[in-house]
Amino acid sequence: MARTPARPEPSRPRPRGEVLAVLRLLAEAGADRVPVVWTSRELGTRIGVSQQAADRYLVDLERRGLVVRTLAARRQRLQLTPAALELLRAEYHGYRRIFEGPARITFSGEVSSGLGEGRYYLSQPGYVVQFTERLGYAPFPGTLNVRLAGPELRRLEVIAGWRGLRIDGFQATGRTFGGATCYPAHLNGRACHLIRPDRSHYRDVVEFIARESLRELLGVKDGARVEVVVEET
Ligand code: CDP
Repeated sequence: MARTPARPEPSRPRPRGEVLAVLRLLAEAGADRVPVVWTSRELGTRIGVSQQAADRYLVDLERRGLVVRTLAARRQRLQLTPAALELLRAEYHGYRRIFEGPARITFSGEVSSGLGEGRYYLSQPGYVVQFTERLGYAPFPGTLNVRLAGPELRRLEVIAGWRGLRIDGFQATGRTFGGATCYPAHLNGRACHLIRPDRSHYRDVVEFIARESLRELLGVKDGARVEVVVEET
């Protein structure tokens, strides 16, 4: 019987902490922006392992799509991929939450009307069941739109990295309803949730849902300014 040719031993799976430590080291050296040029010996010295072990780390990170590696005269150019930055960012958010508590952001905007689609979506049983389960209430059917100025919208982008309450997409009556993430919020001091659809195209409005009609609760009409606080869960 023919023997299968010896294959190099597959690199052992690395605990998450080790991977993060190496990625962090590379990011600190600038590999999040431009390639850094290191030998595996140099990397080994920095992380306290042998040259061979450092080599295995790099092969492993490359295989996982976390590092782009190009060989250059006994050295290697190493750059972190967006997936690696995503891992580091998640780690950062985790620590930030531990030491600083849930993040919050405050801004102000203007109440505005949309096309009346919110009422249709919020009435879908597939959503109502999830809202009731995950937010603790069946929302008033509709979303209150708040229009923001450009700088406020950009500030709000940070919430994309926050933990929120997930609402899953589903199929019903032959069509697809998309998922969304909700964040606890206050509008002029009234508890509600900011809802961020997964497939929202760029718009200068953010939408809020609440147990009751926010227009009635707050006594606001189109054009009224409202103060908004949004919190991470
Ligand atoms: O598209 P548009 O936001 O104008 O309407 P909608 O989402 O169908 O919501 C119906 C109406 O209820 C709109 O005037 C919303 O501003 C309002 N609304 C509210 O006052 N409080 C909520 N919690 C949700 C919607």
